[in-house]
Amino acid sequence: MTRDELLRLVGRLDLERKVGLLTGATVWRTRAEPAVGLREMVFSDGPAGVRGEEWDERRSSMLLPSASALGALWDERLAGELGELLAFEARRKGVHAVLAPTLNLHRTPLGGRHFECLAEDPELAARTGAALIRGVQRHGVAATAKHYVANDSETERLTLDVRVDERTLREVYLAPFEAAVRAGVWLVMSAYNGVNGTTMTENGLLAEPLKGEWGFDGAVVSDWGAVRRTEQSAVAGQDLAMPGPEGPWGAALVAAVRSGTVPEQAIDDKVLRLLTLADRVGALAGGRGLPPRAWPGGTARRLLRRAVAAGTVLLRNEDILPLDASALRSVAVIGRHACAPRLQGEGSAGVFPAEVVTPLEGIRARLRGRARILHAPGPDLGGQPRPLDASRCANPLTGEPGVLLRVLTADGRELSSEHRLSGRQLEPPVTPEAHTVEVSALLRTGEEGKWTFGVGGYGRMSLVVDGQDLVEGEFTRDTEDPAVIHLDPPRRHASVWLPAGHRAHVVARRELAPDTGRALVVTATEPEPDPEQALAEAVEAARAADVAVVVVGTTEGSEAEGHDRTSLTLPGRQDELVAAVAAANPRTVVVVNSGGPVELPWREQAGAVLLSWFPGQEAGAGLADVLFGRAEPGGRLPTTWGATLADAPVRETRPRDGTLAYTEGLHIGYRAWLRSGRAPAYWFGHGLGYTTWSYELLRAVRRQERQGAGAALDVEVRVRNTGPRPGREVVQVYLARPDSAVERPVRWLAGFTAVRAEPGETVTASVEVPARMLRHWEAEEHRWRTEAGVWQVLAGRSAGDLPLTATVRG
Ligand code: BGC
Repeated sequence: MTRDELLRLVGRLDLERKVGLLTGATVWRTRAEPAVGLREMVFSDGPAGVRGEEWDERRSSMLLPSASALGALWDERLAGELGELLAFEARRKGVHAVLAPTLNLHRTPLGGRHFECLAEDPELAARTGAALIRGVQRHGVAATAKHYVANDSETERLTLDVRVDERTLREVYLAPFEAAVRAGVWLVMSAYNGVNGTTMTENGLLAEPLKGEWGFDGAVVSDWGAVRRTEQSAVAGQDLAMPGPEGPWGAALVAAVRSGTVPEQAIDDKVLRLLTLADRVGALAGGRGLPPRAWPGGTARRLLRRAVAAGTVLLRNEDILPLDASALRSVAVIGRHACAPRLQGEGSAGVFPAEVVTPLEGIRARLRGRARILHAPGPDLGGQPRPLDASRCANPLTGEPGVLLRVLTADGRELSSEHRLSGRQLEPPVTPEAHTVEVSALLRTGEEGKWTFGVGGYGRMSLVVDGQDLVEGEFTRDTEDPAVIHLDPPRRHASVWLPAGHRAHVVARRELAPDTGRALVVTATEPEPDPEQALAEAVEAARAADVAVVVVGTTEGSEAEGHDRTSLTLPGRQDELVAAVAAANPRTVVVVNSGGPVELPWREQAGAVLLSWFPGQEAGAGLADVLFGRAEPGGRLPTTWGATLADAPVRETRPRDGTLAYTEGLHIGYRAWLRSGRAPAYWFGHGLGYTTWSYELLRAVRRQERQGAGAALDVEVRVRNTGPRPGREVVQVYLARPDSAVERPVRWLAGFTAVRAEPGETVTASVEVPARMLRHWEAEEHRWRTEAGVWQVLAGRSAGDLPLTATVRG
């Protein structure tokens, strides 16, 4: 529809109806308005898959690699294809708008949602994010650029006030959002936090630059619960308050318009934006709707598998990889993460994948009938206990694998009863009469020993095992954070000795209380084998095998929404495990399964080190492709990895008196490392393939002046494949301005492209450096400027390895 047609629809609604549309109808839906042919629109998290409206383990979703793995692709085409897969998933689930991508930056390695953000560099995040957005929206589904802006850490995330100067905002934190608007994004989500004294749902940044200068014509949806005050948010350019049906707008906003504190024009503009969104996603009468579209059979899993390999970063390779499967007799596969990998981070982004390939399964599938696999899990990691699940439990009523979920009235009458697959129940079905939620199961024990059970939730809780009361008490709510209340409530644990081959009857209950969600989480941890013995077995397996593959990583509870990390050390005795295995077998490949940086103190001892990130459901299939050379590890670091947390130049996430000052200004990530003069363990951009390259020639020329945009550069980089295999190389171009009259990063990424070449072949990479990479924000004049003079152009393979330099006059 044209803008005028949409405006006519707005004109048909009275004030109450218009304002009514601006708060959600439910947690995930907007309101319908038959008077203008508007249907409900469904929103869904999150970046690594489309969950749909329910937290229900039976409603599965394709699970993509998490955002840091997508940042590692340096491949807009593949990012776009993954965006398309998200759109297909959305349409399969009747979702109109996907609440992704997250465009905040890797400001510190401790950020709890680091895994959900793309990169530390604004240009890499911008290009990858824009590609995802275009992919999603190509199929009529809205993407959401979130969280606008400076939501780069989690501590006090609802109230945190970020202090950041205007230039840093423009050049660093706003840049990916500006790119999203240039890519035509249909939704922007305003963040919980404040910037420079004003919470984002009330912040002037919604008007300028977002809607004014950048010309964003879509709608600004709030983060869930982020609209707190009526008038301030309504006049600031916030368009839609989620979730609903309650909220601070409604009747209060109608009254504010009537009393003249909020102009009705502001309401009309919001409704226009909402109708524009509805028109785009086919939710207006006459629109085509969103007929479900299925991704062509089988190829979605192939795409995800390809994405795993393409995002995997090879940090180090002492001539170990790729492995020759035909020459191997035995492989030791070591580590807990080999059979229980972390596929995604925790929080609102979580989905339930239907099919998962673990590293152990992926390696097994590749070596079946060829080589022997010795699996040794190593010592326990001490992470959060696992919820009950169908692999260990049976429904006490039916005997089926899984658990029984019941909802009861205050006098114990059963309101509903259903078979479920997990002891983590986040949204049990409730009616007004519902009083108690209960999960029960028969848990199979293996060997005799001490089992630890846990129960999580709010209100009165109890946990009974074989008739014995293990936990009894009341958990009070101590946070406002919806991600904690609904997804990760506090847990209490207790242990009991159970015999071997036993079926333990587990019954957990919570009473429902207002404003505490409905989650009930029931966990069980089996008796742990002696850690010394587990370590010794792993070392023995490594010694006996031709090659050892050790999969290590972070554990549940770390790398989660709602909390920042406090350490980058691998949990449990994993560092000791890797060091011991590498000492026993020099042909040791370490696979690191984490969403963000961890310390790798043994890195120089390992034969090869791969980063798998949170790889999604095809983890093991993609890993096996890389290990055995069916695919090159395609990833390059989207973020600098320091040797230790203490080395990281920017790490603070804890606010002081509610404020967090971005005192480092423009210098985050590699820029901070360069400024500090210290070398990290691995630079931004680093990543090896299976061949080698020489950088031979760099040519940079200025392109003709474009109207008002300053000059862009055309850069050509000649590289030669000097190794034995065909390969793909990500050619990176940085700019520097040593003689600048303004403060600048030592250098900054200005462009990149990937080339492929056969062994011995020379190819030329053409990299366009857009004019915006040459400009800087002049805070006093509140505008962009491009400094005249000479630019240094550097080309190479990472922010710390740039063998070619040229100069060009701008
Ligand atoms: C998160 C958002 C998410 C929303 C809805 C919030 O707590 O910050 O990223 O989209 O919840 O689940």
